[in-house]
Amino acid sequence: MAILIDSFHNGARGPVRFWHRRCGHLVSDTSIEELQEFAEGLGLRREWLQRGSIPHYDVTGEHYDLALARGAVLVSSREIVRRAVRWPPANALPPMNVRPDHLSVAMLREHLEAIPRFASPPGFLLRWFRPGDEQRWQEIQAAADQYNTISHELFTRQFGTDLRLLEERQCFIIDDHERAVGTATAWFDPDYNGRPYGRVHWVAIVPERQGRGLAKPLLTAVCHRLRELGHDRAYLTTSTARVPAINLYLKFGFIPEVRGPSDLSVWRELQGRLKYDFHI
Ligand SMILES: CC(C)(COP(=O)(O)OP(=O)(O)OC[C@H]1O[C@@H](n2cnc3c(N)ncnc32)[C@H](O)[C@@H]1OP(=O)(O)O)[C@@H](O)C(=O)NCCC(=O)NCCS
Repeated sequence: MAILIDSFHNGARGPVRFWHRRCGHLVSDTSIEELQEFAEGLGLRREWLQRGSIPHYDVTGEHYDLALARGAVLVSSREIVRRAVRWPPANALPPMNVRPDHLSVAMLREHLEAIPRFASPPGFLLRWFRPGDEQRWQEIQAAADQYNTISHELFTRQFGTDLRLLEERQCFIIDDHERAVGTATAWFDPDYNGRPYGRVHWVAIVPERQGRGLAKPLLTAVCHRLRELGHDRAYLTTSTARVPAINLYLKFGFIPEVRGPSDLSVWRELQGRLKYDFHI
């Protein structure tokens, strides 16, 4: 699963500095969220996402080179059309006015004090990663996540291969048949907006167990773990389509990160649809 880019040469179109430069379309074969996150890492704004039937960014110049340096795979334009992820079907989304319905947003918790405490309901236990759990993680995400294509490569791209890190950071909730039914990770980013942050990453509960209060103890454990590991603050990224998740994060004291007018209008649109209020 990958970020893909094709290549063509711009003639004399657009601002002069882009004339006769190598350009390309940047897409993901996994998810729009992943694409927006990758593009942000290149210094592109989330709202520059092109909204046609194939969501993509037009990249040129130094952004093009950086995309390749950061692992975008150079493919033909035909390959882009064949493999690029498309917008999810309208009936897979909750009713929203935000167009398109699937924008990446970020939330922050600028301290890790007063983390809400939720215990696991009877019959469920929390435990941390053990060798072999990569497969369990994939099964949970594949069942719960309707927007990303889940694979072993995605797991490795997100978490690397250092099992020691996973053992202290990746949490599972287990039912009374010893089946892992949910997961969340106390991850980190050494340079988010120029500062080190803990990161609440890849939270999911399998659909048949959702709505029973299982995500709350997971999030309690993960936020506490971040603090134990020395993080002072945390962030997460999610999407406007994930209303239950945003409610969960608001409940845990995460607040919208507003980096510009477009974030502001996205959060204003969301405001009336969420269970908990927030100030922006
Ligand atoms: C988001 C998710 C993890 C919540 O798991 P869950 O076990 O159902 O959540 P809980 O029962 O512990 O509820 C936690 C909070 O989430 C919110 N929530 C849960 N289900 C909701 C729903 N259907 N509608 C609105 N809010 C909801 C509520 O705020 C709830 O707490 P509250 O009722 O006390 O306010 C789950 O829906 C899921 O796995 N979704 C698909 C994957 C995903 O989107 N992950 C997030 C990626 S950023």
